[in-house]
Amino acid sequence: MKLSSRIDFLAARNGLELERGERVGLGLPVYNLSQSNPTRAGFAWEPEALAAAFSAEGNRFYSPDPKGLASARKAIADSLAASGRPADPERMLLCASTSEAYSYLFKLLCDPGDSVLVPRPGYPLFDHLAALESVRAAGYRLEYSHPRGWSIDFAALEELLDGPDGERARAIVLINPNNPTGSYVHGDELAAVTELCRERGLAIISDEVFHDFSLEPREGRVSLLGADEVLTFVLDGFSKKLCLPQAKLGWIAVSGSGDEAAAALSALELISDAFLSAGTAVMNAAPALLERERSVLAAMRERMAADLAVYREVLEYPGSPHRVLACEGGWTALVQSPRFAPEEDLARGLLREEGIYVHPGFFFDMEKEAYFAFSLIIPPGEAGAAARKYKAYFDRFLQRIR
Ligand SMILES: Cc1ncc(COP(=O)(O)O)c(C=O)c1O
Repeated sequence: MKLSSRIDFLAARNGLELERGERVGLGLPVYNLSQSNPTRAGFAWEPEALAAAFSAEGNRFYSPDPKGLASARKAIADSLAASGRPADPERMLLCASTSEAYSYLFKLLCDPGDSVLVPRPGYPLFDHLAALESVRAAGYRLEYSHPRGWSIDFAALEELLDGPDGERARAIVLINPNNPTGSYVHGDELAAVTELCRERGLAIISDEVFHDFSLEPREGRVSLLGADEVLTFVLDGFSKKLCLPQAKLGWIAVSGSGDEAAAALSALELISDAFLSAGTAVMNAAPALLERERSVLAAMRERMAADLAVYREVLEYPGSPHRVLACEGGWTALVQSPRFAPEEDLARGLLREEGIYVHPGFFFDMEKEAYFAFSLIIPPGEAGAAARKYKAYFDRFLQRIR
């Protein structure tokens, strides 16, 4: 039977992941430096807190609303306002997850064959979400300079917009901060992106799931909540904000010039009405869950800072061939190491010889080798042990050279 070409990419299973599975199956130890699941990294909620939040009387009833329950939207808007990012709950639409929010927006903005521009390096999820909507994700370049960090390469972005992908481009996606570079969007970058979008009739999608998880932010980072110069959609959800990927809820905050934003919101309601996928129980739980937001955030930021410090301590000794890149925020730090072999071989060697599972840079379309993405959410003891094993693996190459 012929399946849709939209799922062609699913055939390409990641060999490294398969090998990790085999190791686990054999009972061999694996240090997972790619851990991105907070519930397996010491951030699982107490069952009592979850039970209390999910015990609302209203869970017995179904009151469908394509925008999602007003009480949940208000609780989310209040929490955003408390963190200095006010949002209008009337211009917010709830759905099952941030990933689903992308699928709604691609349906809203794109015809099959249209494109959206996404940052490179970036997380491959967005290419998949776009492909599932028959939309092309065209990468725009982020550049790294030391010690400034990452920024948008505007010459490359304009070149892209002037080429075939630009002709059918419908939106620029900003991941704010980006995964795995950890880079926020800054005021000067936003002004330039807004200008490009205004000139070319593009929308902005700003994914802010990691926005509150700042580490070493540069001056001038901005949120796009409430941005009103061009049609703007800001995405977020509970998976990251509350470390609750098992109780997902995502949202889209819509802003822009009055008429345009209102029209987009009405059309989004039509899309949402076909799915009505935001669960009643998690929407009713939202106010109680969000009460713990500050403590979840504080614990996570403490963990991120501790892990980053551990990686620097182990890998950035005098004369070290490794470098931990500037990291403004998010749950990942990029480590640059000598390219003694192609990244894929290094990643396999790390797994086979040291039991280290870590995503190599090519996984995120890094332009050069060798880079590896280190999780910032694993317990610091584990992070230190894994970093020392990582160092030992590269030390053996160094010894062979000397
Ligand atoms: C930047 C970013 N946005 C969105 C998502 C998906 O979030 P959700 O679980 O709400 O679909 C991820 C998942 O890792 C992510 O890294």
